[in-house]
Amino acid sequence: MEEVIVRAESPEDVKAIDVVNLSAFEGDAEAQLVDAVRRSPDFIRDLSLVAEINGRIVGHLLLSKAALEGEGGRKSVLVLGPMSVVPSQSHRGIGVALMQAAVNRARDMRYTAIVIAGRPDYYERFGFKPGSEFSISTNLPVPEDAVTAMELVSGALAGGGRVVYPAVFEAIY
Ligand SMILES: CC(C)(COP(=O)(O)OP(=O)(O)OC[C@H]1O[C@@H](n2cnc3c(N)ncnc32)[C@H](O)[C@@H]1OP(=O)(O)O)[C@@H](O)C(=O)NCCC(=O)NCCS
Repeated sequence: MEEVIVRAESPEDVKAIDVVNLSAFEGDAEAQLVDAVRRSPDFIRDLSLVAEINGRIVGHLLLSKAALEGEGGRKSVLVLGPMSVVPSQSHRGIGVALMQAAVNRARDMRYTAIVIAGRPDYYERFGFKPGSEFSISTNLPVPEDAVTAMELVSGALAGGGRVVYPAVFEAIY
């Protein structure tokens, strides 16, 4: 397989990321979500990652900021989504490359945990565990077993709590 380069998005990539999200999902809700997060204070450019093959963007993964509200107060965590690979390039490990880069970068940037709402079948292979193991829930209308999480720092999710996704996420769930 050709070399897959994973890097942070740059301003010139916005249109190509839009195309990836429009091709991977039905409808434009995820593409709109990415635009909305990008305009928000929860956006982290270094954690909006693109996968490139031969200079063409074929995948995208977004990690952004959310709050974990627990008994001990409010902590900052990352939420993952959306993540997309163009259908013509799927099942070639591009998703794996994006996810590994995202986890490594997030850890290097000293974020302490990543939470995902949706597709636990796909994400558990990367070491994400059911949210119930950490006693975490979210403000999104998703089934409890759809939530998975990974601690980047051991004990970061201890005590659990409610992950409050920014309002822009509510539109797509
Ligand atoms: C989910 C999604 C991001 C996965 O991207 P991907 O690049 O196809 O992911 P991978 O290639 O890493 O893994 C997908 C499958 O290919 C397999 N695979 C990985 N590398 C492979 C390779 N070199 N050869 C053959 N198969 C491979 C994986 O084992 C996995 O198999 P399984 O899911 O049947 O168990 C992509 O399918 C997508 O964009 N889907 C639509 C949007 C979506 O649902 N996003 C997630 C929710 S936000």
